[in-house]
Amino acid sequence: MLQFDRHRRLRTSAAMRDLVRETHLNKDDLIMPVFVDSTINGKEEIPSMPGIYRYSLDAILDEIKEIVDLGIKSIIIFGVPEKKDEVGTGAWEENGIVQQAIRLIKKTYPELIVIADTCLCEYTSTGHCGILKDGIVLNDKSLEYLTKTAVSQVAAGADIIAPSNAMDGYVAAIRQGLDEAGFKNTPIMSYAVKFASSFYGPFRDAADGSPKEGPKDRKTYQMDPANRLEALREVASDEKEGADFVMVKPAMAFLDIMREVRNHTLLPLVAYNVSGEYAMVKAAAANGWINEGQIVYESLVGMKRAGADLIITYFAKDVAKKL
Ligand code: PBG
Ligand code: ZN
Repeated sequence: MLQFDRHRRLRTSAAMRDLVRETHLNKDDLIMPVFVDSTINGKEEIPSMPGIYRYSLDAILDEIKEIVDLGIKSIIIFGVPEKKDEVGTGAWEENGIVQQAIRLIKKTYPELIVIADTCLCEYTSTGHCGILKDGIVLNDKSLEYLTKTAVSQVAAGADIIAPSNAMDGYVAAIRQGLDEAGFKNTPIMSYAVKFASSFYGPFRDAADGSPKEGPKDRKTYQMDPANRLEALREVASDEKEGADFVMVKPAMAFLDIMREVRNHTLLPLVAYNVSGEYAMVKAAAANGWINEGQIVYESLVGMKRAGADLIITYFAKDVAKKL
């Protein structure tokens, strides 16, 4: 008599498979990115991200309404300012494009969780995430401007601050700045594990945030994609500094890191399914080479299986339509 296990018993029908499925995607897990642009009128599609648009202030509520109507509970907002300068004034001024958008969105949809991406790269003339001096992106000086940015975003109504500039000590600096401004209850979602990645290419086109002066890349502040232990050190620092969420970014090529971080933190873990990941799937699907819906499902469920609790994804609306 042959002796073996019959794993197929649990796969005999769709209902049986539903019964034993271990990982589920929920609408509550999804965070939709939104771009608000002060240099355009109406909306403009991002060429390398079909289906994703930049919106002017007077058009943004159309997009937010769609998101809310689909049952998505959270967005992350990015801005493109009218003009850039060395210190990224557009990021932290009271009437910056993101601050105006947050006020408008929260006034109309108070229940929607608005996460503000807190960085300077879309606002600096150098295209760096911090202050550039003599060819170096200064760490501590950059923290001052990043903190100003965070405080102005919360003052405008942001529910969560998501700093992405990858300077050391940014969680500590922002936590202190928010507390001193009376915003003790505003959580920080840290881009704790942010790799220096080419998967951000389409986003940088969309938000005009590529390095223009100084170093040609962000390798002195974002992580080397080859490193795993360093990711755990980054998470440990941000936890100690007071982060309320931690993120791994990008997601698809870094699922081992997602699992590793899951096994080392008790905080909610966020996966960022980034612009390049979106662009690749869209391009292949447009050619009829892959089944987009199923590829997206497998990718996102894989992020959750790897340990992510929440997923920032440009596919959020598409997925919400099916859930
Ligand atoms: C800003 C920022 C970037 C992304 C999110 N916030 C770009 C970068 O760090 O160069 C990438 C998002 C994406 O690719 O979808 N620092
Ligand atoms: Zn940046």
